[in-house]
Amino acid sequence: MRKLIYLIVLPILGLLFSCQNEGSHSGSISSPDGRVALHGFLNTDGQPGYMVQFDGKTVIDTSLLGFDFKDEAPMRSSFAIAKAETRSSSESWEMPWGEQRLVQNNFNELKLSLEETTGAKRNLNLIFRAYDDGVAFRYEFPKQDGLTELTILDENSEFALTGDHETWWIPGDWDSYEHLYNHTKVSEIDTAGKTRHPNLVGTYLPQVAVNTPVTMKTADGLYLSFHEANLTNYAGITLRKDEGSLTLTSELVGSERLGHKAKVELPFQTPWRTIQIADKAGDLIESNLIVNLNEPNKLGDISAYFKPMKYMGIWWHMHLTKKSWDRASGKHGATTAEAKRMIDYASKYGIEGLLVEGWNTGWEHWIGFDDREGVFDFVTPYPDYDIQEVVRYGNEKGVKLIMHHETSAAPRTYEQQLDTAYQLMQSLGIHAVKTGYVGPIIPKGEHHHGQWMVNHYRKVLDTAAKYQVAVNAHEPIMATGIRRTYPNAISREGLRGQEFNTFSIEGGNSTDHLTVVAFTRMLAGPIDYTPGVFKRDLRPYRDNSLNTTLAHDLALYVVVYSPVQMIADLPEHIGDHPFMNFIKEVGVDWEQSLVLDGEIGDYVTIARQERGTDRWFIGAITDENERMKEISLDFLPDGKEYVAKIYMDGKRAGFEEEFVDYAIDSKEVKKGDVLNIRLAPGGGAAVSLLPKE
Ligand code: NOJ
Ligand code: CA
Repeated sequence: MRKLIYLIVLPILGLLFSCQNEGSHSGSISSPDGRVALHGFLNTDGQPGYMVQFDGKTVIDTSLLGFDFKDEAPMRSSFAIAKAETRSSSESWEMPWGEQRLVQNNFNELKLSLEETTGAKRNLNLIFRAYDDGVAFRYEFPKQDGLTELTILDENSEFALTGDHETWWIPGDWDSYEHLYNHTKVSEIDTAGKTRHPNLVGTYLPQVAVNTPVTMKTADGLYLSFHEANLTNYAGITLRKDEGSLTLTSELVGSERLGHKAKVELPFQTPWRTIQIADKAGDLIESNLIVNLNEPNKLGDISAYFKPMKYMGIWWHMHLTKKSWDRASGKHGATTAEAKRMIDYASKYGIEGLLVEGWNTGWEHWIGFDDREGVFDFVTPYPDYDIQEVVRYGNEKGVKLIMHHETSAAPRTYEQQLDTAYQLMQSLGIHAVKTGYVGPIIPKGEHHHGQWMVNHYRKVLDTAAKYQVAVNAHEPIMATGIRRTYPNAISREGLRGQEFNTFSIEGGNSTDHLTVVAFTRMLAGPIDYTPGVFKRDLRPYRDNSLNTTLAHDLALYVVVYSPVQMIADLPEHIGDHPFMNFIKEVGVDWEQSLVLDGEIGDYVTIARQERGTDRWFIGAITDENERMKEISLDFLPDGKEYVAKIYMDGKRAGFEEEFVDYAIDSKEVKKGDVLNIRLAPGGGAAVSLLPKE
């Protein structure tokens, strides 16, 4: 790893800004390529703020910063700049697994050390960074006399937009990200009157706000996405939309039980508030801003226990209602025999993981019960599931178990059992767990995205690391790049996943869902979307059909990034489908990823090179519109011949409820060639490019 950090004084760019609130104290930085500029300042009241420009045009206007506390005066005004320092950093680091191996991390930083001129003369530091792909800032409460802890009632970070941008957003739910995306102008963001989502078990929408990442397109064709990085010991962010204003303001997820948003001990640094800026939509996906703003790997080499993999599950069974998690229903899914049948099928296609849900006692007292503490037991299998025997059989066939811990949103019960649960896993050689938090959090008054839960999710990662366990969390806290520090945070849900297609009362995920997800949720990090549903008409089990084609689902193995990729469907629905050849071949760990084209909510095409090989894979998906794709193979290495196998929509796909019609084509190609592929309405295509032998 190359690392070079040096301190320089950057030229002051203050003249670039004409800022009406600007006082005499300010500092500025620009990105290494000079296109992004950030100006931090104090206004005439001594309140801190910032502005951002891209190519000389203001993209974030005068935005003020500050805090309200319990039993402490607010920090909003009367500050003076005691010190303004700048530094630059240029380094590259290696992802242990990821969308790419080497990540460039180059930025310029401005630190404003503020001191109040009146009262207690408290200190507050602001750290701003400018990268080529956006800006970020965080607050630092330094160690100081007379102030040991702060109870935060509100963080008031403004994001003053310069226009009524097109916006792709989900409501600022404090308990769930499992909403469909809305596409409106900023001024049309409205969740008033909707305090709950009718199809979600845990849901709470206290004000008109959006969850992040939230992505926008300006009238000038610029793309902006707002999120946070390194969410540690703090509450998750939502962005509040005030009536009549184009300024979004941070609204932290609160605890009604404790009556505050967050409580912190000094010294303390908040998460980074991030603004990704790009002139192509696809550059948002290629951006590494969020991971770069996290601390380096603190677990060391985890390859001894985690390697990216594909997996199947005793899972879709239950979502289809063919089987059940509990035993009382008489159709228990997690039996030794079913696990062995799944292992046999997975092993035939080189699929290395098997998730088994409903293996442990407690499921009789799950959804719909308020008293869920002390119910789930994470070490006791149901009597028809012989875990030792399943592990033994799996080892024989090259298929490892993925453990399942549904906490039913009773984290205290889970925490009591964390050590024993992970000890059991370690003793069985099981190194990955899928966790779940369905329902309103117990104790009442806590929410999934609040500080108390953020700390719970972190405790799970810490304990898991101790026992060499990698975690794929459902109903999680949003990804904020923590995987850089904790590479055992392998994947998570945090969106409306595939399973919604089974139980949704709104007719399933929209046709354009993933074409929005790629530019919103996916900017935060890996997604356990669970593609691989071959039987797309879910009848007779569920009265739903999926709203996209089979080739669309196949493309998701490349489009949607995760180091664990599920093949969701049941062996009897997949059989020997020729698309399984692609699933068998497709990589799960990447040397590099290129977004070839894309528009939010319309289409996206991504090419990824498998790590350690010369193989490339392409995934392309479209919304409800049919499209012809011209995919240029310029990215292939010089002078090497490839065989392209194209798995695509058949002629009837996408029409008249025909979602499974497919075609496969094969041709020899080289750098510079162009593939012309038709995507059906709701369709997609997956291409493997293997070097010619
Ligand atoms: C919700 C998860 O998202 C889903 O995948 C899982 O099957 C259920 N909880 C049961 O834990
Ligand atoms: Ca879920």
